[in-house]
Amino acid sequence: MTQSHSLVQESMQAFLKAHPKLKYNFFGGKGGVGKTVLAGAAAVSFAQQGKRTLLASTNPVHSLSGLLDQNVFGQVVPVTGVPNFFAYEIDTKDTIEKSKKEIKEKVSWFLKFAEIRTQADAFVESATMNPAFEESAMFENMIDIMFKDEYDVYVFDTAPTANARRLLGMSSVYSLWVGKMMKSREEAQGLRQILSYSKKKEEKDPLMDYLLSFQQRMANAKVLHTDKEKTAFFFVTLPEALPIAVITRFIAWFKEFGIPVGGVVVNMLIDKLQVKPESPEFVRNRVSMQDNYMKQIETDFAGMVRAVLPLFETEIRGVEMLKRTAEALYGGA
Ligand SMILES: Nc1ncnc2c1ncn2[C@@H]1O[C@H](COP(=O)(O)OP(=O)(O)OP(=O)(O)O)[C@@H](O)[C@H]1O
Ligand SMILES: [Mg+2]
Repeated sequence: MTQSHSLVQESMQAFLKAHPKLKYNFFGGKGGVGKTVLAGAAAVSFAQQGKRTLLASTNPVHSLSGLLDQNVFGQVVPVTGVPNFFAYEIDTKDTIEKSKKEIKEKVSWFLKFAEIRTQADAFVESATMNPAFEESAMFENMIDIMFKDEYDVYVFDTAPTANARRLLGMSSVYSLWVGKMMKSREEAQGLRQILSYSKKKEEKDPLMDYLLSFQQRMANAKVLHTDKEKTAFFFVTLPEALPIAVITRFIAWFKEFGIPVGGVVVNMLIDKLQVKPESPEFVRNRVSMQDNYMKQIETDFAGMVRAVLPLFETEIRGVEMLKRTAEALYGGA
């Protein structure tokens, strides 16, 4: 297939060969470029190699069930037709509720500890009513899945927005923030002990325990996310201006955070062999537009393009079509 496109210097297959320990795969890019489809195809390919593979969606607007023609919402489900292949759409609402509950417990404890007579509810509600909280909760859920380590390979279908950056920056920012919080907790505790008349030792501090375990988890997450052998982020683009601009920004950010970029996948290239001088003007125009952007891709992402996928005659749905896409993504040279 178009895998042998001259743009591709190091193919997906060559990349895998050079990274035999690759375990955490992420697919990012602008909305609608084919992230879910490519994550699905990658997962199929790993599973076909005999690796126990989990395809997980952290995108609040799920589409794995639609892609696989099978309900995989809220729990891990073996995918029919491909051994070793499991899929899971994380239940956003459930994740957020759990996270809220946990925070409420901590806040309630703290308010009591500080002898502040405020109900935790209102406090927590206002702290958690923002999109960053949802992202943070989803991020933690994803990290939990990674830590459980029940699969050989993980493929994550991530949210399309620029917030992905915040999500990733978060692990660095979190540890800074938690470090500061812990320092001030230590100081406050010290002060309490000095001031207390009864010299009895301070009771266990659940907030401190929480911060400690949180910091540990974030530090571990950062180690995983920046492991060049185990982790790779792939960026999907179309031969069009906006998707190229989006991943150009992403790649720069990721490099800044030290997160390994696996490469770029160009999707939905129109097969020129099918286009004749007598083809409709609309089609010929699109082909020449794509031609121009392919030149830009060649210079902007030199050495980073891992595969070029054709625009198929239909949308990509169901396991059979995914196998075909996997062949285009990982097959060939
Ligand atoms: N190479 C292709 N040929 C034909 N159709 C494709 C191709 N790649 C993706 N599609 C179709 O394009 C649509 C968008 O793909 P997909 O859902 O994977 O994009 P996405 O980046 O995950 O979108 P979102 O940002 O909404 O999550 C789907 O209908 C999919 O079947
Ligand atoms: Mg998607």
